[in-house]
Amino acid sequence: MKNHLNLIIAPLNAAHNKKDFHCNVESLDRHIHKQARQDIKRCISRIFVASFPDRPEEIMGYYSLSTLSIDLSQLPEKMSQKLPKHPIPAALIGRLAVSKNVQKCGIGKMLLVDAIKRTLSVTDQIAIYAMVVDSVNDTAIEFYEQFGFIGLNDDRSRLFLPLKSFELPNKHRKI
Ligand SMILES: CC(C)(COP(=O)(O)OP(=O)(O)OC[C@H]1O[C@@H](n2cnc3c(N)ncnc32)[C@H](O)[C@@H]1OP(=O)(O)O)[C@@H](O)C(=O)NCCC(=O)NCCS
Repeated sequence: MKNHLNLIIAPLNAAHNKKDFHCNVESLDRHIHKQARQDIKRCISRIFVASFPDRPEEIMGYYSLSTLSIDLSQLPEKMSQKLPKHPIPAALIGRLAVSKNVQKCGIGKMLLVDAIKRTLSVTDQIAIYAMVVDSVNDTAIEFYEQFGFIGLNDDRSRLFLPLKSFELPNKHRKI
């Protein structure tokens, strides 16, 4: 998938140079260095990587995508009242990170938009109520809040946004 920064966002593959990726958060570096390929193999999550077309092996950023269900008690009452009384299906961005050399250039936002678009593209075949994100620290929480994500009731580090927010006319969209 291409975008206005002319980045390619594609599934992680063996040609990507994982070990040179650094984003200043050790757990997110370690994940791409050591864990990501195994998670893909075992169908635990999918990993998508941003790179420039002339340096396709260099990882500028990545995110992981998988599924989960959210207990109704985790949602604001106003929302849960309108839903059936069983867990709600969601897509999870478990990790999102941008290389420390190119942070604040729009790549994080681009990866987030890509993850949402990928998820929306399968919602006519698999019902997914919301996008959920895990944040590693307060800075990450602020990053997600600006796009309208709100914290789950019992877990401030896990935020969600109903996918129906993205069906609004363009002028009302946060992304
Ligand atoms: C947090 C992170 C993913 C953001 O990516 P980025 O490429 O630096 O951010 P972008 O340039 O896409 O910023 C998009 C918007 O978010 C804002 N923003 C960026 N980082 C922010 C932060 N830490 N807190 C609040 N807002 C932030 C930008 O100002 C920008 O706003 P604008 O569109 O109004 O100009 C990236 O800095 C990173 O990888 N940090 C280390 C790992 C991490 O914290 N991951 C978070 C998820 S676990």
